[in-house]
Order: sequence, then structure tokens, then C-alpha cells
Amino acid sequence: MDACPIPQAAEPCALVIFGASGDLTKRKLVPSLYNLASYHLLPADFSIIGVARRPLTDEVFRDQLGKDLAELGTQPVDPNLWGRFRGRISYCGGNFDDPATYKKLAEALAESEKNLKTSGNVVFYLSVQPDYFATIARQLSEAGLVAEENGRWRRVIIEKPFGHDLASARELNAKLTSVLQEHQIYRIDHYLGKETAQNLLVFRLGNAIFEPIWNRRYIDHVQLTVAESIGVEGRGAFYETAGAFRDVMQNHMFMLLALIAMEPPTSLEGEAIRNEKVKLLRSIRRTTPEEALWNTVRGQYGEGVVGGKKLTAYRQEPNVNPDSRVETFAAIKLMIENWRWAGVPFYLRSGKRLPRRTTQIVFRFKTPPLSLFATNEADPIAPNYLIFSIQPEEGITIQVRAKIPGPTICTRSVRLEFDYDQFGDLQPTTGYEKLLYDCMVGDTSLFHRSDMVEAAWEAASPILEAWNNNPVEDFPNYASGTWGPEAATKLIERDNHHWWSAENH
Ligand code: BG6
Repeated sequence: MDACPIPQAAEPCALVIFGASGDLTKRKLVPSLYNLASYHLLPADFSIIGVARRPLTDEVFRDQLGKDLAELGTQPVDPNLWGRFRGRISYCGGNFDDPATYKKLAEALAESEKNLKTSGNVVFYLSVQPDYFATIARQLSEAGLVAEENGRWRRVIIEKPFGHDLASARELNAKLTSVLQEHQIYRIDHYLGKETAQNLLVFRLGNAIFEPIWNRRYIDHVQLTVAESIGVEGRGAFYETAGAFRDVMQNHMFMLLALIAMEPPTSLEGEAIRNEKVKLLRSIRRTTPEEALWNTVRGQYGEGVVGGKKLTAYRQEPNVNPDSRVETFAAIKLMIENWRWAGVPFYLRSGKRLPRRTTQIVFRFKTPPLSLFATNEADPIAPNYLIFSIQPEEGITIQVRAKIPGPTICTRSVRLEFDYDQFGDLQPTTGYEKLLYDCMVGDTSLFHRSDMVEAAWEAASPILEAWNNNPVEDFPNYASGTWGPEAATKLIERDNHHWWSAENH
């Protein structure tokens, strides 16, 4: 077994969570910080300051986090470790647009620096409604809390959505960069923290056998699927402003696309990787409105029965307009116009209330130039596939042809499989551990730079405009528990391909 270098604990710092009473804090942030502490990756001199509107005492806030951690953490809570952790948590109540809140926060930070030796380094985590991103950044700046002086650093993590379209993304970036420097802004994308997503780059670039075939000469097409079995789960009001394309495709999926299709970076430095990603995003073909409509499909779930349970339609969800035209499913075909990928279609699909939860990236290779071997008639085509299973299964599969034992030469597809379980009993994680740790050690490679965000919106704009100008008339157009509208199957079948699934290949 190869020994990995032991990672160093991050430098002393304080973490300020805006939106401390929200879901993300209890479900992801505190469990991740606790996990980091258990791996000895949090600095010994650390503190957490929660900021939210409700007035709470430190004690009440600590008790609440302790209860949430016991319920939602990914490992049993060790009373000793929690005891040390708990004593480093405090609370600062106040409105996000009130300068008095920031005055109080400055005092809390000074106290943390003095009593808990956090050295003046601070991560501000903005887990708040997007309307507050710019306000909080400005208030932090006006209170002098983001100035990097005397070797101390100040970093701000921003949750998605980074804008609603190109214009609003530009406006947000302009507001943020008027009070922060770009190197202080960490735009977080939880998909990139997933273990299997991080492995994409290692697989591509850490194995000499793949890079030579990673191009239009050998790859026929690529499929990305982010399927969810759940519906909007009480987030109707938010979802009405987003839809599947903005919620998942334009951000998580475009960034996964950048990772798998970019040119190899010259190093693993954040800027080297981000430079390649932005180049890739900028080479996504800008379509005409006609092409955009021809190459995309929108869907909205209707009622359905899954596992004997009757499920309601999207339009019946709480806080959803009963005539809503918001899509809960999107499928698109896009082309990348560069020397590596010209002519290779990339098919992306994402939706809610699909038959199961799965995130998968599938590369279909070209078939051999001569068909020398008879195939099993039930399995007539013989391309190779490379499949990255990101979640819930985590692994890599390569599908190749093999001879069926017997006196005649007849072939069939077989699978060479790597499963993450082979690494042994892996402790469950939230996916945020790596991202929080990276921010604390100043590694920007998994975070989005402003130009990447804008490039992703630029690529999305022709589709959003075409959709906006051509409202759909046939919603709901797929039943809950099915693989989306019929048109999504046709989108790929008209190119003589099929959506890959373990059952049908
Ligand atoms: C979020 C979306 O960004 O990603 C949600 O807002 C979606 O609508 C979620 O459910 C999916 O993330 P995961 O990690 O559960 O696949």
C-alpha cells in the first residue's frame, strides 16, 4: 500500500458562519468541521463564531450545535473531542445589514484572537440568501474586517447561486471585487468536494494510458447525468426562481464538464487549473436560438407512483405556482469548439423525481475500424465505455469486448470494475471537509474564479434566452419516477446513441 504524505493541520484561524441557524450549518458545516478535527486537520487554535438574526446566548447555540451534530454528524461524537470543540464556539446575533452586527463581530474576533490564539486569520462563510452576499461583503469591508494586514489572511466563502444570469453574475462579481480581492473570494461548489469528482483529474492525468485517447480521434461522445429521485422537498419558493438548468446544470455540471474536458494544467496550483477550466468553458459553442431549441429538452414532473407510493406533481408542491413553467428536468447536447473536442457531442441531463439517484459520466469510444468478430446477437454493437460513477455508487468501470468461452469466436461486453470500497472501510464524509480545509490552507483549485462563473453563464445564455422566448406548453410532461420526457430519449437517439445505464449495456 502506498503511504500518503500526512496532511498538515491548517494555520490558526477563526471561522465566522453567516446564516449559523440554517440547514447547511447543521447538516454539513459543523459535521465537516468536527470530522476535520477528528483527522487532526483543524488547527488547535481555532474558533467558530455563528452569526444569525435570532438573539441567542453562546451556551444555547453550543447546545443546539451539539444536538444537531449527534443527530446529523457522519461519525459518533467523542465527548472529549466535542468538549474541546464546544468551548471554541460562540454566537453573535444581529441583522446582516446593520453595522452594529459587524461592530459586535469585530469584538468577538478580537476576543477569539486574544483568548483562543486564532492569529487574526479569518474565514467568513456566507451561508445566506444570495441577496445578502454583496451586502455582507460590503459591511465586512466597511468594518475593516477583510483587510489583510501584518501577514494575516481574510477569506470569504460564497455559496451558490452566483447570479441568476450573465448580467446578475457580472453585477455580483463587480460588487464583491469592489470590496474584496479576487484571491480572497472562494466560490464553493459542493460537487467538486465529492471524493469521486476529485479523482477525475487523477484518473485522467495520473495514468499515462488515458490522455493519448482523450480526444475526438477516439471518443465518440460523452454523457453526464445528475439524476435525483427526490422532488423539490419544500424548496418550492426557491426552485420557482431557478429550475433544473440553473440549479444544477449551469453550475455543478458545467464545472464537472470543465474538469473532464479541459487541457492538462501545467501544475496543480489553483490558478493553473482555473486557467484551463475557463478556457474550456469559453470554448462551448454559442448556439443560435433555433439550435438552442433543437438541442435542448425541458421537462416538469407530474404525478406518479414510486414503490407503491403516490407522488404529487411539481405544480402541487407548496409555494409553487399551479401553472408553473419552471423545468424540473433538462437535457442538452452541446459541442466544444477546440482542437481536442471538435465534433464530439456532450449530452447532459439532470432532473428531479427520476427513478433513482445517480451521478455518472460516461465516455463512449469509437468502434474498431474493422468488425472482425461475430457479436452475440443480443448485444450487437461493440464500443468501449468508460464510466465514472460519482454517487451513490463510487467507482470506475471500463466496458470491453471479450470472447464467450466455447468452440466458436463470439464476443460479449464485459466490465472491468474498480469500486472505492477496495480502499477499505471508508468513513462517511459530508463532502465539505476537503473544501473547508482547502480554504483554510489557501488552495483555490476547487473553487470558482469570477471569469469561470461568467464563462459558464455566457455558455448558458443562448439556451436561457431561447427558453424564455419560447415558453413550453406541455408541462407536466413526465411522470414522477420516470427518466424524464420522451424528447430527452429522442435527443440522443436521433444521433444513434442511447443514454447509458448499467441495465441496458
Ligand atoms: C444543490 C441543488 O446544489 O444540489 C439541489 O440546489 C440538489 O436542488 C443538490 O438537490 C444535489 O446535490 P447532491 O450532493 O445531493 O447530489
